[in-house]
Amino acid sequence: MKARKRTSTLLEPFAGGGIISLTAAFENLAERAVLVELDDNVAAVWTTIIQGDYLKLAKKILEFELSVRTAERALSRRPRSTLDHAFQTILRNRVSHGGIMAPGSGLTKTGEGGKGISSRWYPETLANRIVAIGAIRSKLEFVHGSAFDVIPEYLDDPCAALFIDPPYTAAGKRAGRRLYSNHQLDHDRLFDLVETAAADFLFTYDDSIEVRAKAASHQMEIGFVPMKNTHHAKMQELIIGRGLAWLGQFGSECGSKNVNVSDHAMSKPEAFR
Ligand SMILES: C[S@@+](CC[C@H](N)C(=O)[O-])C[C@H]1O[C@@H](n2cnc3c(N)ncnc32)[C@H](O)[C@@H]1O
Repeated sequence: MKARKRTSTLLEPFAGGGIISLTAAFENLAERAVLVELDDNVAAVWTTIIQGDYLKLAKKILEFELSVRTAERALSRRPRSTLDHAFQTILRNRVSHGGIMAPGSGLTKTGEGGKGISSRWYPETLANRIVAIGAIRSKLEFVHGSAFDVIPEYLDDPCAALFIDPPYTAAGKRAGRRLYSNHQLDHDRLFDLVETAAADFLFTYDDSIEVRAKAASHQMEIGFVPMKNTHHAKMQELIIGRGLAWLGQFGSECGSKNVNVSDHAMSKPEAFR
C-alpha cells in the first residue's frame, strides 16, 4: 500500500488503537489519516486526543495514583466529560485482564510477572505517547461512527488507501466477541463495498476457510505476515488485497508469502488468541 503512488488519505475504518493511521502520520506515508470507530469508549480517547485537551489527559494519567481501590473507584463512576471517559478507557485497558475492555473482563489480579494491578500501567509512556500524537493531530481526523457510513466516501478516490481490520467474527469465531464490544458485522457487505473501489485497500483477517472463500469470490489475493498476538505468541496474520505482489519483497526477510487462494490447500485456521 505504501509505495505505488502517494497516498493522500489513509482511511482506517475500524480504528481501535489506530496503529496503521499513527504509523502513516508519523512517518509521512500519507498526507492525512482518517480513523473511524464505533465503540463509545475507544471513541472518547480519539476524540480527546484529536479534537480535545490531550495535554490535560496526559496530565491526568501522570497524576493518577494507581491501586486496586483507586482503579475500582475511578472505573465505577459515570464519566463526567469526554476527557474523563477517555481516561477511564485507558485505565481500564491497562488494568483489565489482558487489556480486554469488553464487558465481563475483570481487573487483572496478579498482573504480568505477578506485579499486580500496576504491571501494565506505564504513566510516563502513556502520557508521552498521547503528547506525541497530539503534536501531529493536524494530520489526523476522527469520526465517531460506523465504518459503513464512512467507507463509501473514499471508494472513488484513487489516491485513498483503506486499511481494514474488522473484528474477527466472519467465521463465527469467539475471539472478536471476546475482545471487542462492537463485534456484529456484515462481512459480506464489507467485501462487496470495496471490491470495485478505485481506492487501494488491504484487509487483515482471522485465517479461516470462510474468509479465504470470501476473498476468492471477490477476486482478491491473500497473503500472510508474521505478527505477535497479545500473549506474544508468533502467528501468521492473513491479509487480503487486490494485488499483493509487493508482499514478496518482504518474504526472505521475515517469512511473508503471498498465495493464490485457489492454489492454496486449506490449512487448519490459526486462531486469534
Ligand atoms: C480488530 S479491531 C481494530 C484494531 C486496530 N487495527 C488497532 O490497531 O488497534 C476492530 C475495531 O473495530 C471497531 N468496530 C466494530 N464495528 C465497527 C463499525 N461498524 N464501525 C467502526 N468501528 C467498528 C471495534 O470497536 C474495534 O475497536
